[in-house]
Parts: sequence; structure tokens; C-alpha cells
Amino acid sequence: MKTVALLFFAFVLVYTAPTQNDEYHILRNIINNVSKLLEDPEKLSGIMVPSGFDKSRCISTRPEDFCLAEEILFKINSTKYVIPENILNIGRLLIQYNQFHQTNCTVTLNKDEEQLRDLLKDLGCCAQFKYSRLNHKRMRNS
Ligand SMILES: *[C@@H]1O[C@H](CO)[C@@H](O)[C@H](O)[C@H]1NC(C)=O
Ligand SMILES: *[C@@H]1O[C@H](CO)[C@@H](O)[C@H](O)[C@H]1NC(C)=O
Ligand SMILES: *[C@@H]1O[C@H](CO)[C@@H](O)[C@H](O)[C@H]1NC(C)=O
Repeated sequence: MKTVALLFFAFVLVYTAPTQNDEYHILRNIINNVSKLLEDPEKLSGIMVPSGFDKSRCISTRPEDFCLAEEILFKINSTKYVIPENILNIGRLLIQYNQFHQTNCTVTLNKDEEQLRDLLKDLGCCAQFKYSRLNHKRMRNS
């Protein structure tokens, strides 16, 4: 009896753990956290980040733009700007997501810059696109 209970417990662990951290949930958390930040434009105003994130390339199936976004968010100059708390959380979510799509990317500092707000809009839009695509796949498979 004990063994059965233990087995059941192990089964539940294996089957619940991935669902909270899978691509789908990570993307949804990215989308929600990004929209939440964008609702508060004052916190973002004037923060500049290296450009390089390309929305249309991101929407294609290639993974390097999420890698770029991760690098860019962690490289915001914290001497110069007050970094909104949620940015670090989005950065951590990107790290989790990128573990599913490993790639290398390089951000060039001190080149062109863009507003953090614009980067977040593009990131949110791309995450939404990837989320919908994943959602279609899930619907087809179930
Ligand atoms: C932001 O992401 C976290 C996970 O890191 C999640 O728990 C939280 O619900 C998200 N925030 C919003 C506003 O959805
Ligand atoms: C961060 O900003 C400070 C103040 O503007 C500047 O002196 C410093 O060089 C910047 N650091 C980087 C890595 O760009
Ligand atoms: C990324 O670069 C490192 C070091 O050059 C290499 O070992 C690794 O295989 C690369 N990863 C991918 C996914 O290309």
C-alpha cells in the first residue's frame, strides 16, 4: 500500500512539475509581465537600451532574439537608470524560456540605442505570436 502511494506521489510530481515551467506557461508569464510594465509608462520613461532586437526575425521560428532580449535586459546600466523591478523578473523568465531553445547571441554595447519601452512592445508582440503558435499546436494534439 505504501509503495503504491509513493508511486502515485512520484507520478504526480513528474506530471505537474513541467507544466508550471513549460514553454507555454513561461510565454504567458512573459506576456503578462510585459503588459503590466507597459501600463506604467512613467517607470520606463527615458530608459535606453542597446538596439538589436528584431521583431520580424523574432516572429520567424529562429530563437536568437529572445537570447538578445535576455542579454539586453541584464545589461541595462543600473548606474544611469532606476531599473523597474519587473525587468529582472522578465529577464529570469527569458532565461527559462531560452533553455528550451539554446542559442548564442551577442549584444553590442555603445552602438545604437532604443527606448526600453519599444523593446518591451516588440518582445511582448513576439511572445504573443509564439504563444498563439504553441496554443494551436496544443489544440491540434489534444
Ligand atoms: C510574472 O511572472 C511571474 C513568474 O515569474 C508570475 O508568477 C506572475 O503571475 C507574472 N505577473 C503577471 C502580472 O502576470
Ligand atoms: C553607466 O552609466 C554611467 C553614468 O552615466 C557611465 O559613467 C558608465 O560608463 C555607464 N556604464 C556602461 C557599462 O555603459
Ligand atoms: C554557444 O557557444 C559555445 C562556446 O562557443 C559553444 O560551446 C556552444 O555549443 C554554442 N551553443 C549553441 C547552441 O550554438
